[in-house]
Amino acid sequence: MKIVFATNNQHKLKEIRNILGDSFEVVSLSDIGCHEDIPETGKTLEENALMKAQYVYDHYHVNCFADDTGLEVDALDGAPGVYSARYAAAGSQQTGLSHDSEANMARLLRELGNNNNRKARFRTVIALIEKRNVCPCGCTSIKKVSQFEGIVEGEIIREKRGGEGFGYDPIFQPEGYDKTFAELGTDIKNSISHRARATQKLAEYLKTR
Ligand code: IMP
Repeated sequence: MKIVFATNNQHKLKEIRNILGDSFEVVSLSDIGCHEDIPETGKTLEENALMKAQYVYDHYHVNCFADDTGLEVDALDGAPGVYSARYAAAGSQQTGLSHDSEANMARLLRELGNNNNRKARFRTVIALIEKRNVCPCGCTSIKKVSQFEGIVEGEIIREKRGGEGFGYDPIFQPEGYDKTFAELGTDIKNSISHRARATQKLAEYLKTR
């Protein structure tokens, strides 16, 4: 089965291909000739993931899925959440801060200050849209939407540690570990991460559908 993953992130593509195995041909946006900037203007991870998948489904009429991830910090009422990629840029006059991990981490540590409640989680939502034949001959079909969630609980440490990974990895320590994602390395991180957990659920669904 061929399915489009609404991303051009090679790391994410590799991860999902590993989990899904050979029975699925996962292709990227550029593989289907989609070079547009897909809008991500939702107020929740769920809305954004669905918006991206819906865009691909409407324009390319293919089975597809999209993901969105956020870091939710309890003491900040769930921020940065859906705005994780552009946290430092939000409300700032300075340009170029979107997707600036150093600036995002600096803002998060600043906002948290000496707060002792450091509880946080990474949450990934995957939205899948499939075309399902109602009639075996394919004359009538319906659109089926499913969502899958992956969460990893942890805490925000007070100073950055570790050099691997990306984003907020140097300040996020997953529950049950005394190292940050950036210290644990890709293999361990990918076996317990929010994205891996959501992807695993998607894989189980696709394999049994
Ligand atoms: P995306 O939805 O996967 O693009 O993630 C949005 C933002 O969340 C990224 O730009 C990162 O700042 C942050 N993020 C997502 N996943 C991770 C992760 O595994 N480690 C650290 N930061 C992440």
